[in-house]
Amino acid sequence: MPLVISKPLLEHARANHYAVGAFNATNLETVQAIIEAAEAEAAPVIIQISEGAMRYGGLRYLAAIVRAGAADATVPVVLHLDHGSGFEVNMRCLQAGFTSLMYDGSAKPFEENVATTALIVRAAHACGIPVEAELGQVFRVGDAVTAADIQQALTDPDKAAEFVRLTGCDSLAVAVGSVHGMRSQEAQLDQERIRQCALKAGVPLVLHGSSGVPDDAIRAAIENGICKVNVSTAIGAAFCSRLRGQCAESTQEHDIRKLLGPAREEAKERVRQKLRLFGSSGKAGAALDACRTMCSS
Ligand code: 13P
Repeated sequence: MPLVISKPLLEHARANHYAVGAFNATNLETVQAIIEAAEAEAAPVIIQISEGAMRYGGLRYLAAIVRAGAADATVPVVLHLDHGSGFEVNMRCLQAGFTSLMYDGSAKPFEENVATTALIVRAAHACGIPVEAELGQVFRVGDAVTAADIQQALTDPDKAAEFVRLTGCDSLAVAVGSVHGMRSQEAQLDQERIRQCALKAGVPLVLHGSSGVPDDAIRAAIENGICKVNVSTAIGAAFCSRLRGQCAESTQEHDIRKLLGPAREEAKERVRQKLRLFGSSGKAGAALDACRTMCSS
């Protein structure tokens, strides 16, 4: 089926207390792994492309691969821009047929974040495309920050409410204790902050840096208002670990498919585990109905 927009999926997830999995893809195999996993779990899914992935795989290549995968799928698939750094990249993705955008102005002063987000929302909404924004900063492993910096950068629920009102964004990424790129599940989330942000902001919330969050904390975060869970590192780790194993086992192999195929399978299994954790397995049909209702009204 054609790609779907993210908004009705996230609203459906919010109303039904589950979260839509959003997985980063960088090449053909990761796109296939994500869509095959979503098919196997009958789950709606978001495939997200970062600017780094665009530099590696090419914006049009990756968009075309996702679109082709979605066309053959029976589950709803969204093509989303992850952490767009400004107006231009958002407009390039809009033109390339992305069905969900993100502007990450979280490192900018509040007023600047509001102004650029509002501008992108206006342009995207004119084309019927929803926009995720970010308030509060989710750091990355390796950033030179202290525990106090992380605490200081957590999202203020009242500011989140003001930000959503001023920008008209459709969903909001919040800083609640996770850190991008963690290899072990040790991050501690501020669940009460998530609850307050959900209550005050009134839009579906997005959890970034989810590879480092323990399963129980993910479940609680979804109960408290997280509707989209971003996962990148855990999927890349599964893919690369299997790829390293294949290469070590078959040092003379020259058929690319024999090395990449098992890695794709490993990534697919990890995506399936995450989709089950997020409660989105079996939700594809109802989520698709929600898309049809929103798009026809
Ligand atoms: P992880 O790489 O920590 O899973 O974070 C992914 C993410 O938040 C992408 O936006």
